[in-house]
Amino acid sequence: MTTSLKLLAGFAVAASVAIAAGLAFVYSGYYDVAATTPHFDTTFRLMKVAMRQSVQRHARGVAVPELDDPVKVHSGFRNFHGMCVACHGAPGSEPSEIAKGLYPRAPDLSKTASSWTPAELFVIIKNGIKMSGMPAWEPTHSGDEMWALVAFLRQYPTMPAGEYQEAVRYYEATGKTNEMHHH
Ligand code: HEC
Repeated sequence: MTTSLKLLAGFAVAASVAIAAGLAFVYSGYYDVAATTPHFDTTFRLMKVAMRQSVQRHARGVAVPELDDPVKVHSGFRNFHGMCVACHGAPGSEPSEIAKGLYPRAPDLSKTASSWTPAELFVIIKNGIKMSGMPAWEPTHSGDEMWALVAFLRQYPTMPAGEYQEAVRYYEATGKTNEMHHH
């Protein structure tokens, strides 16, 4: 055999051994899928990077509609209160028991929403996040409804303390949305 053929054969053997070891690990059941066993720190951080990169890429070219309309913000608030707080919590509202058992946890969007552009928020809401508790809302909601959620999330981190709970109290008492102050 020539040297390059020997090298090639060596690689083939090494690759087969790696694949066999990988399969043995997968089928052994040693990998712990429990939500109570966190990823290695490095794995977790890599997955976060992958998620952010993926969302950024998929948000390219998404046309963002006008989002300042208070009607949109209010309708987004109502859907947020109904569909998102159970997992994400809100200032003055603890996440539910379901949310406390999730891994990864659903972040407090009053803190993290501003780290995403409107197009990125839309992509996350529309498509959800694979292998996490974050559902895709496209199967059940219109584009307008999902953009209304984005319109609310854009204002949400700037709402003064107590304002969110005030809006909830008003909404639960009247079925309507109050003015909601934000900056
Ligand atoms: C069943 C639980 C659940 C519900 C309901 C839910 N989410 Fe999530 N969401 C999650 C989880 C878990 C993550 C974190 C996923 C990850 O980091 O991999 C997440 C992540 C997100 C993120 C990315 C946040 C960040 O900073 O990384 C946004 C934005 C988001 N959700 C918006 C929403 C909106 C809007 C709704 C309501 C329409 C909603 N979610 C409802 C579980 C949920």
